[in-house]
Amino acid sequence: MMTPEDMKYVAAEAHRIAGLAIRPNQACLVEHRLAPLARAEGFETISAMLGSIRRDADPRLAKAAVESLACRESWFFRDRKPFDSFRQDILPVLARARGTERKIRIWCAGAGNGQEAYSLAMILEEEAERLGDIAVEIVATDFCARAIDRGRAGAFSQFDVQRGLSIQRLIHHFEQSGKDWRISAGIRRRVDFQQHNLLDASAALGMFDMILCRNVISAMTPDARKTVLTRLGRHLADDGYLILGEGETAAGAVDMFRSVRGKRGLYEKAAGDIAQAA
Ligand SMILES: C[S@@+](CC[C@H](N)C(=O)[O-])C[C@H]1O[C@@H](n2cnc3c(N)ncnc32)[C@H](O)[C@@H]1O
Repeated sequence: MMTPEDMKYVAAEAHRIAGLAIRPNQACLVEHRLAPLARAEGFETISAMLGSIRRDADPRLAKAAVESLACRESWFFRDRKPFDSFRQDILPVLARARGTERKIRIWCAGAGNGQEAYSLAMILEEEAERLGDIAVEIVATDFCARAIDRGRAGAFSQFDVQRGLSIQRLIHHFEQSGKDWRISAGIRRRVDFQQHNLLDASAALGMFDMILCRNVISAMTPDARKTVLTRLGRHLADDGYLILGEGETAAGAVDMFRSVRGKRGLYEKAAGDIAQAA
């Protein structure tokens, strides 16, 4: 059993390392998520592992513990509407706006195991003829090393591919490999996976025309949310789009974005002026 002191320590570390909000009444969830790591690291109890992290100030294990706490649940074409909006509204507008540069950049921030980025990549492949020679780059980042490794591998379980994928897309874009389904090399090549903590500076990532940060900030404290949204805003082109999760909002956190009317979770830069075009 974790003590209230353990919980306080876990909450402080989760906030410090990843901006995550852990409430005192989440002890069961925290135990459930930390138990496998404690076992794998050879500790008899979670308390023993936390004691060791504190005593030895072990940054590797502290980070691994916080990575275990983050919810990485995701599925292909999650919530469907943002992907419909991407195909029908955003992509045509961006393709017109980038007619000279012939390049569109997309960032999946807090990408989980890759389903979100690969869903976009499948749409891009399906729209290839309409896009012509416009290159679309997708950068998928997550602070969790395991998520990045899994995303890069592009191998998904039977359970994963049953969530959100049509049978046509499964047949067209995946092939079975043992118990897993491996996404085609063509789709895999479209996504560049990088480990990145959204609380950290990210100048090297460059500017993007669309940023998805879905189901990430809802797990964060208000100050971390503000930090993350401000950082995302700095990486978004003035005529770019931000997509948050269905239950998430930028309102109140920062005034850099305004919501696109009738499109839940879709924002444009407050400085831009293309809401009406979409
Ligand atoms: C629930 S998943 C969402 C995945 C995907 N965006 C979706 O909507 O399906 C949240 C992801 O955010 C990541 N995450 C949480 N805090 C983060 C941080 N500070 N920096 C980067 N990624 C973070 C977690 O590791 C997890 O993979």
